[in-house]
Amino acid sequence: MTYVVVENCIKCKYQDCVEVCPVDCFYEGENFLVINPDECIDCGVCEPECPAEAILPDTEPNIEKWLDINTKFAAEWPNITRKGESPADADEWNGKPDKEGMLSSNPGKGD
Ligand code: SF4
Ligand code: F3S
Repeated sequence: MTYVVVENCIKCKYQDCVEVCPVDCFYEGENFLVINPDECIDCGVCEPECPAEAILPDTEPNIEKWLDINTKFAAEWPNITRKGESPADADEWNGKPDKEGMLSSNPGKGD
C-alpha cells in the first residue's frame, strides 16, 4: 500500500505535505507533486495536511491511473523536502474539475 497524489493537486501545489513526511518521499513537478510509492511507509500523516484534499490511499477506487502517474514521475522529478511558495492563484484552482490535461511533465526545482 502507498499514498498517492491525485488530480486536485494540479496548479494548487500547496506543499504542506512535504513538511510532514518522515521519509521525504515527495518529488516535485512544475505544477504537481508526486509520492514515490516504493519509499512511502503508509503513515498517513500527509493526507489531512493537504488543503486541496489531493492525497489518498491507494485503496481508493479508480486510483490506478494516479498510482501510475506518481510512480512514473517520482523516477524523473527531483526530491522536495521543504515547503516553497505555492502558486499565487492556487486557491482559484482548488476544486476545479478536469485539471488532468494541465498536468505538466516538466520537473520542478526540488531542494
Ligand atoms: Fe510520506 Fe507518510 Fe505521506 Fe507516505 S503517507 S507520503 S510516508 S507522509
Ligand atoms: Fe499538492 Fe496538497 Fe501537497 S496540493 S503539493 S498534495 S499539500
